[in-house]
Amino acid sequence: MFKIYHFDKVNSTIDKAKEFDVNSVIIANEQIKGKGRFKRSWSSSKGGIYMSIVLKKTNPSYLTFIAAISAFKSIKDVYNLKTIIKWPNDLIYNGKKVCGILTKVSDKSIVGIGINTNNKIPSSLKNKAISLSEIIGKETNNKLIINKLLKHFEKYFKLLKNKKYSKIINDWKKYSFLGSKVKVKTLGKTYTGIAHDVDEDCFLIIKTKDKKITIREGDISV
Ligand code: BTN
Repeated sequence: MFKIYHFDKVNSTIDKAKEFDVNSVIIANEQIKGKGRFKRSWSSSKGGIYMSIVLKKTNPSYLTFIAAISAFKSIKDVYNLKTIIKWPNDLIYNGKKVCGILTKVSDKSIVGIGINTNNKIPSSLKNKAISLSEIIGKETNNKLIINKLLKHFEKYFKLLKNKKYSKIINDWKKYSFLGSKVKVKTLGKTYTGIAHDVDEDCFLIIKTKDKKITIREGDISV
């Protein structure tokens, strides 16, 4: 289903992807201006996986969820390594970020996926991020991870097209951080509680001492 375009160096695969038709996948060895959530930058030196999938306009929350499940499964398939999906879009290992996902929607959808594999993590991020090669103690096979990821993504995208929302939510939950103690920073407030559930809109529900709160957007620490 997907047509893959490989580049050595781009500003961001998300920006590059805007030039391509649906069902294209843009992969780069390196990004000069890698983008993260909340207008943050994404460290994108050589060795990591930087890819963006172009799709027809689709609900971005579900796209982010299926990308997280697919990335989780690809790492599990290739290295038998279990990461944890932290709402809405991070893969975490021992409290550190291995993968991040950024989904943009205009007339098309673009799902940007960054996985720390063989790239060097800058010292300023060492307390927050980790690479798969550091975890497994050897170089990763990025091509294999990407192939597996796209296979899973294709399968879950079909489920999404067929409106199998509860299957997607249930799989996301299985591999997720639900049940953990969390601190949530939203624009105006900070909450602490237990990550309790996600609803059918992919919003996070946390349980504080006295009530349940629905989180639509925010930064979560576990
Ligand atoms: C985040 O967790 O903040 C999201 C990070 C998303 C990074 C990926 S790397 C491929 C794609 N291109 C970008 O510029 N960003 C996304």
